[in-house]
Amino acid sequence: MNTRFLDACWGKPVDRTPVWLMRQAGRYLPEYMAVRSKCTFLELCKTPDLAAEVSIQPVDILGVDAAILFSDILTPVEPMGMKLDFVPGPVFEHPIRTMADVEALRIPQMEQDVPYVLETIKILRRELAGKVPLIGFGGAPFTLACYMVEGKGSKDFARIKQMMYGAPQVYAALMEKITTMDMEYLNAQIKAGAQAIQIFDTWGGILSPADYERYVLPYTTRLINGLNRTETPVIHFVKGAGAMLDTVRKAGGDVMGLDWHVNLGTARAVLGQGMAVQGNLDPTVLFAPQTVIEQEVKRVLDENAGRPGHIFNLGHGILPTVPPENARFMVDCVHRLSQK
Ligand code: CP3
Repeated sequence: MNTRFLDACWGKPVDRTPVWLMRQAGRYLPEYMAVRSKCTFLELCKTPDLAAEVSIQPVDILGVDAAILFSDILTPVEPMGMKLDFVPGPVFEHPIRTMADVEALRIPQMEQDVPYVLETIKILRRELAGKVPLIGFGGAPFTLACYMVEGKGSKDFARIKQMMYGAPQVYAALMEKITTMDMEYLNAQIKAGAQAIQIFDTWGGILSPADYERYVLPYTTRLINGLNRTETPVIHFVKGAGAMLDTVRKAGGDVMGLDWHVNLGTARAVLGQGMAVQGNLDPTVLFAPQTVIEQEVKRVLDENAGRPGHIFNLGHGILPTVPPENARFMVDCVHRLSQK
């Protein structure tokens, strides 16, 4: 029974620092590509046996201290009534632009509309058998809204900002609906067996602190408050939030995910006691020679200075061209260098 990851989420002392990698199940692993070659990405997400298989791969191959459900943040948006494709980035055929578009969105019935997600969680709990805990996840309302309004990834996020500033009632109605969906979706994951929840706010950092506080914080706060989290810690990852952690912290949650633009020690000083941290190695360090990887792992551990409540991770998802042996080496370094 490896409880290091959950213990660290709750700020309890651990024998060595737990580690996992955002997007640890994915294209950098030949074993993932072998499964993925047989179907599309969405088919993989919707086939519980295969989704469970690729979720477990990094546990066996890298020796990480947690598994994460294999799915996508946009999976529950499709049954809201938005046709989704991956090419390979996500594309919605009909993006949300008007109040009528928002009103047409439905709140899915989780057991009926995303049964494959809940089934994947149940298979994973059975197959992991306590070896490592299982993390469930969802997108934060703002990041989901970005994709739903832009229709795909974006460089400038002009459409969502036009809506936010120019049609604030439409924006608010959309965010309310997404927040309600998200809460039901994540509570369904907890009920199915997810032992921690990570909320990915990949695009929260494109806003000024003032706009984050006004247009994002109320919704993420309502989401986190609405989760059944007495026994299930919540990790809140807002990419690009290093300069507004004091504001982002107000959303609540048990662990703050950090990207690599902030010094982990400085971040902990801002967040104060009572909140654990996760992060924050620059994902491109995994392209460096192993001597450099080791130095950088040590630097992040040194910034934490032995305080309880640190989960080691990358500052964002692992990149598809990383050599798997470097990821494995990084995990080993974390365990070796943090051993009590
Ligand atoms: O962490 C894990 O291993 C679990 C699986 C996971 C995926 N997506 C699988 C995936 C998780 C946690 C996500 C989250 C996700 N999805 C985020 C938030 C985290 C982040 O990276 O910022 C976002 C923004 C998305 C949306 C998304 N999905 C994009 C922009 C893309 C295309 C770009 C890319 O990285 O490929 C995806 C596709 C996707 N999601 C893939 C995987 C393994 C690649 C699909 C394939 O196999 O072709």
